[in-house]
Amino acid sequence: MHIDVVTLFPSMVDAPLSESIVGRARSSGLLALGFSNPRDFGEDRHRTVDDKPYGGGTGMLLMAEPVYKALKEVKKKGSFVILLTPKGRKFDQPMASGLAKKKHLIFICGHYEGIDERVNDLADLEMSIGDYVLTGGEPAAVVVIDAVTRLLPGVLKKEDATVNETFSMGLLEAPHYTRPGVWRKKKVPEALMSGNHKLISKWRHDAALALTGKKRPDLLKRLQR
Ligand code: ADE
Repeated sequence: MHIDVVTLFPSMVDAPLSESIVGRARSSGLLALGFSNPRDFGEDRHRTVDDKPYGGGTGMLLMAEPVYKALKEVKKKGSFVILLTPKGRKFDQPMASGLAKKKHLIFICGHYEGIDERVNDLADLEMSIGDYVLTGGEPAAVVVIDAVTRLLPGVLKKEDATVNETFSMGLLEAPHYTRPGVWRKKKVPEALMSGNHKLISKWRHDAALALTGKKRPDLLKRLQR
């Protein structure tokens, strides 16, 4: 998978995605992550990329042209372009699965108070990671790229690690335990220690249902629809 990020602050995305599982996916070539910086396309000698909003108001806006040029630098036939904005469609696991099947993703990160509205037409999808406002799209790009990368074939040791997990079946995942069997008087559920795979499987399914009912009844309702 190839992903490019259009951002004024590449290191905000590059650094967190250089560690751990995503870092390894990059080193092994399963994920190629590139950057394109609107600053490189600023048109005056200060390479200005922001300006005051028409009609007044606080803060500065990213201008359309440097963003357009930075995007043009990396866009190819078949690229899927995502604009990160709190006004976008809310990101979830099914969206992560859909994005993991694409060949080339491009994320556009807004900064300052936002981007000139006219760049919206350059995106195939406007996406939000939740109902709160970040200082820019970069942390959102990190979240989405992380969730997509772990779904790419070969990234996780066991591919079926993503099959039974939280959200993939519309349920929260059953609790996990490791040694010791008793820790500070708290015992691991008997079924998990039984070695009986049928029993373990049933326990996990029941526990997932109960946990989801308790913590996220909204997810259960969605399943019943
Ligand atoms: N940019 C600022 N806030 C955001 C959010 N919640 N999701 C995506 N991009 C954003």
